[in-house]
Formats: sequence, C-alpha cells, structure tokens
Amino acid sequence: LKQKYLSAIADAGDEAALEDLRLQAVGKKGEVSLKMRELGKMTPEERQVAGPALNALKDEINSALAAKKAALADAALEERLRTEWLDVTLPGRTERRGTIHPISQVSEEIAAIFANLGFAVAEGPQIETDWYNFDSLNIPPHHPARQEFDTFYMNRAEGDDRPPHVLRTHTSPVQTRAMEKQGAPIRVIAPGRVYRSDYDQTHTPMFHQVEGLCIDKDVSMANLKWVLEEFFAAFFEIDGIKTRFRASHFPFTEPSAEVDIQCSWVDGQLKIGEGDDWMEVLGSGMVHPKVLEAAGVNPDEWQGFAFGMGIDRLAMLKYGIPDLRAFFDSDLRWLRHYGFAS
Ligand code: PHE
Repeated sequence: LKQKYLSAIADAGDEAALEDLRLQAVGKKGEVSLKMRELGKMTPEERQVAGPALNALKDEINSALAAKKAALADAALEERLRTEWLDVTLPGRTERRGTIHPISQVSEEIAAIFANLGFAVAEGPQIETDWYNFDSLNIPPHHPARQEFDTFYMNRAEGDDRPPHVLRTHTSPVQTRAMEKQGAPIRVIAPGRVYRSDYDQTHTPMFHQVEGLCIDKDVSMANLKWVLEEFFAAFFEIDGIKTRFRASHFPFTEPSAEVDIQCSWVDGQLKIGEGDDWMEVLGSGMVHPKVLEAAGVNPDEWQGFAFGMGIDRLAMLKYGIPDLRAFFDSDLRWLRHYGFAS
C-alpha cells in the first residue's frame, strides 16, 4: 500500500491528481482509513502492531502529499517566471496628444493682448441678416460695395418672409450688435469666422477676422494708431514696430485707413518689423455717424474707431506660412512641421 501511494504521489502531474490520491488513500472512504476502521475487530495483540503501523503510514502519505504539493507550486512559479517577463530596457510607447488648432491659438493670443488694452470679447452669428451685414454699416441695397464682397446668400423657400440672410462677409456687423446691446461707451473685439466666395493660395471661402471697436466721448485716430502699435508689438514680440496708415475707403468709416506693418524680404524670406517694405494687415477708420445711428448711439455725443483684420493672415505672417489653405487641410505632417501638433 505504501509503495503504491508513494510512487503515485511522486508521479502526480498536478494538484487535482494529488487531491484524487489523497481521497483514495486517507480520505473518509480511503484505503488507509478503511483499514483503520478494521482495527476494532482485531484482538488487542493484533491491534498493538497494526495500529501504530497504520498511523505511521497515514503520516507518511500525508507528508508525501504536502511535499509534492509544495514542489508542484514551486514548479508553477518557475514556469511563470520563465514565460511572463518584462524587458524594462525597451523604449516606452509615447502617446501623441491632440493640440489646439493654430487659428484658435492665435485667436486666443489676440484676445489676451486686447484684454490687456481693456477690450472685452463680443460675438455675433455667422448666418447674419443682410441688414446687419450691409445696411446697418451704411451699405444700402445696390451700393457697389455689396459686389466687392463675393457674398454667399442663403436660399429662401417660396413664401419665406423672414429677412434675407447671408453668411457674414466680415465681423463688422458685430459692431452694430454690440452697440445695440451695450450702448456707449464701449470697447470690444469680435473674433470669428467670415465667408466669401473666393479660393486661392491666400483666400479660402471661410476665414477668420477680428473686429475692434472703441467708442467714447473723444476717441481719435491717434488712439487707434497707439492701440494698433501696442497690439502688433505684443503679437509679433517686436518693440517699436512701425505702422503706416494709408487713406482708403470703407462705407462704415470716415475717414478710413488701411494699415501696413514694417517688413522686409531677405532672400525670399519675409521679416516682420525691420527694413523698408510694408505689408498690409488691416482696414480701419473712425466709425461713420450713420453706423452709430443705426445701432442707436447718438453721433453728436459719441465717436470712436473700428478696425478689422484677418486672423489667418496674421498667423501666416507670424509663423512664416506661405499657403493659407494648409490651415484647413488637417494634415498632421503639416501641423507637426510648424509645431502645431505633437
Ligand atoms: N470690414 C472690413 C473688411 O472686411 C474691415 C474694416 C473693419 C474696415 C472695420 C474698417 C473698419 O474688409
């Protein structure tokens, strides 16, 4: 019996086989247990010999079972250590994180600079009535300026008697909306999307402008020039950057000026803030009395300046990007090249 169990235990391949053997040998109905029950039928002399022998056998089987169980556990651990290992010297897998779009970054930067100059942010809808986009800005129906804008008009269903809507062609309608809402004095910028039917290297049908509006009792063109020069110095990080005001015409400002910043071309490379070339960056002027009136602000009491500039264009100049369309291609290689994505 002893030989039978000890060699079976030695050969057991896993814990389940070992448990079977335990039940067969020393379990309640096991062979050894049954033999122990027979002790009762023996004579005292027989029992004196058989009792201790059976107890010794039971102990021996139990300790063989325990030893084998420990050996099996050791072997299992060895096996895991051999197969489940980790090479801690392998380089880590880096995660690429999303980033804010360059136009959004530049918009936020612009808003932060103007916030330091006391300008709050105003907003208006991208689908605008033609009254806000044109009429309120002193561009009545049939005014030639309407043709210059390449406007997208919204389709109207038969019998639709709402006013005609357009995709706003500039952020200037936000001047009217902001003054209607808040009156004067007012100092706001209005960044946002605008739309014109135009497409080439420097034009996309959707682009971004930021409008500026400052109305008070005695605001002048001099204040406009100071604000813009402060802005460009901060935006391009160039102290004392020069601006040039050229007489121009917009129906909603009088007088009007287009503003250039100082630049130069060195080996086909554009340098902002040095040299004696000029780069046009915005339109501006003193807000026309008719615009104040349309927005419910008394032109005999209030006056001020407005300006509008292209955010995408400013971003192109700041980062040396030659093609505007690339901003809207979502090409990760391009975004990474200019450091706009990781
Ligand atoms: N709205 C003009 C444009 O889109 C820019 C402008 C804004 C000019 C405000 C003067 C005053 O070109």
